[in-house]
Amino acid sequence: MTFIKNYILRLQEKIRYYGYLYYSLGSPIISDSRYDYLIKKLKYLENKYKFTWLKKDSPTLTIGSPGLLGLKKYKHITPMLSLNHVFTASDYLNFYTKVKVFLKEQKINFCCELKIDGLAINLIYRKGTLKKAITRGDGITGEDVTSNIYLISSIPKQLCGFNLPRTLEVRGEIFMLKSDFARLNNKAINNHTKTFSNTRNASSGLLLQKHLKTDAIKNLVFCCHGYGYFPDNLNMFDHSSRLIQLKNWGLPISGYSSIFNSNADILNFYKKIKSIRDFLDFDIDGIVIKVNSIIFQNKLGYTHKAPRWSVALKFFDKEKVSKILKVIYQIGRTGVITPVAQIEPICISGVTIRKVSLHNFNVIKQLDLHIGDVVTVKRSGDVIPKIVSVVKCYRSNHAQRVVSPKLCPVCKSKIKLDDNSVKVRCSSGVMCKGQLKKLLYYFCSKHGLNIYGLGYKIISKLVDNNYINNFSDFFNLTYDKLSNLDDIGKKTVLNIISSINQSKNITLSKFLCALGIRDIGLGKSKIITKHFTSLNNLMNANIQDFYLIKGIGLNTAHYLFNFLNNKSNKEMVFHLSKNLNIYSDHINRNSIVHKSNILFNKRIAISGSLQTFFRVEVINIIKKLGGHVTSNVSKNTDYIIVGKNPGSKFIKSRTLNTKVMLEHDLLKIIKICL
Ligand code: IVH
Repeated sequence: MTFIKNYILRLQEKIRYYGYLYYSLGSPIISDSRYDYLIKKLKYLENKYKFTWLKKDSPTLTIGSPGLLGLKKYKHITPMLSLNHVFTASDYLNFYTKVKVFLKEQKINFCCELKIDGLAINLIYRKGTLKKAITRGDGITGEDVTSNIYLISSIPKQLCGFNLPRTLEVRGEIFMLKSDFARLNNKAINNHTKTFSNTRNASSGLLLQKHLKTDAIKNLVFCCHGYGYFPDNLNMFDHSSRLIQLKNWGLPISGYSSIFNSNADILNFYKKIKSIRDFLDFDIDGIVIKVNSIIFQNKLGYTHKAPRWSVALKFFDKEKVSKILKVIYQIGRTGVITPVAQIEPICISGVTIRKVSLHNFNVIKQLDLHIGDVVTVKRSGDVIPKIVSVVKCYRSNHAQRVVSPKLCPVCKSKIKLDDNSVKVRCSSGVMCKGQLKKLLYYFCSKHGLNIYGLGYKIISKLVDNNYINNFSDFFNLTYDKLSNLDDIGKKTVLNIISSINQSKNITLSKFLCALGIRDIGLGKSKIITKHFTSLNNLMNANIQDFYLIKGIGLNTAHYLFNFLNNKSNKEMVFHLSKNLNIYSDHINRNSIVHKSNILFNKRIAISGSLQTFFRVEVINIIKKLGGHVTSNVSKNTDYIIVGKNPGSKFIKSRTLNTKVMLEHDLLKIIKICL
């Protein structure tokens, strides 16, 4: 329970920090979808574990953050709420059904609008004169940016027309056009001043200045999408007619809004907007669907955070623009040196990206990459980020070309080009501490012995402290040695020791893979060990035996044979085999499945990446336990196994209240049943 409490507290702290960066500094470091996901996760945990005291000042109860230091605060007349966000058509349909069931109406009109990616602003007009401009802040009080707003020409300082109310609160978005953003950034590059990473950062940077440093704020534009206080005596009870009234008073509104009453039309609007998104001169991140009738809106009401009559159906981003800060060189377990670009942080589909692997020096050549380049980053296959292109027109005259290193970044020995000149390698083998650490890390990872708790940082410290120099040293690790490392708790030490003991039973294929031989991962290890019933057999094989294996090429056969026949490697394997119980993959130790295990006959979905297992391994384990793994989440799903960075399946499972299983729950079941 203390673990859960601490976890919730840490999550609250994390969300408050992200909220502060987003709402107060206008400079988010995670995407909206990631933020929403964290809030959802927190809400779920707070509801599941009912520690009331923990909920008192939780970010789930407040919108936004306490405010920016330096600017004066001002209270909104009516609270400035946020919107509920969904990412899939089925989640949107959930919203629609709830509205329909609640209102018990046959025909409901929805006003569909663009969701502009800018900063929310509240404009207070008294008898038609602009008196205050306030950022959202915490939803109750915001920062007074009135003087800055005076420089934005699309915000009327004086309304025109008839029936101007005594008091009016106009809500809308302040943003920067993409074309202006490009022009300003170009100028900044040439003047060697700070560039902005996206239009939203640029807008908030300019709007929230305490003292105006440039007149660049003139580039901001405003679009109105709502109102706070709006007098009832004007007898306007449709959202769309209120917007038209605002337009008639001189306020800019979007020309893209439409009214629909069927789901098919709403989803078509979403598709259409998504397809024209890149052609718009301003950033949008979805559409907003609002019940059009104010009477219905009032019936539906609000939660403490958002209206029940509206939802934002957001786009999942795939590509974004960032900037190369520097290129570093990382060394792998086989000595390959990989160039990695450090970029200005960006969020794509909920994940913050700071580093992008450039794979090899050919990629750099093809991209003609320079430090400081503006680049397009894509999450290919939605997982691994990749630089797809360089926006060359932004390159400054002083940009430096990225060159391949001459020395190993760790041991400083000379490096050599690989056969096909694509890869660059350090040739010092495990004499290079960089290679050694990576190799030891690989040995302990899920590719190998799967020792829980031995991450790269701890292994690196163990090597630096001379506690570990080779694989066998892991089995001589003691409580004292581990406790001597900085920043390591008693519990972690005990967990590591117990995990090392558990790792001693290992299949031959996993053992072979753990050795980290060049070209031999788990797939090839499995193919190879099919032909050998024991370690002894494998060690005594000759090169022809390896050549003859289908699926193993000549190079791989050579690497394997040379490795296993190297004198010191032979000794190392011999030592290891004394500590380990290595058994053939083909002895079925677990033919009896406990039918009483809780996964038996259950439908199970998996979301996010697991630390201990590969996805295929989990699927096999679940199958062994008699469960069925499904690729989607539906109301028939019994459990969702949740790993790191879970995605849309997890979000959906929260709306269906699917039972959650964390990785350690799964481990417990496996321990009991297999
Ligand atoms: S309506 C009561 N309509 O999105 C909620 N918001 O993620 C009123 N936004 O804070 C918001 N375009 O700043 C609404 N067409 C639109 C919008 C829009 C962008 C922003 C707004 C809001 C944020 C919520």
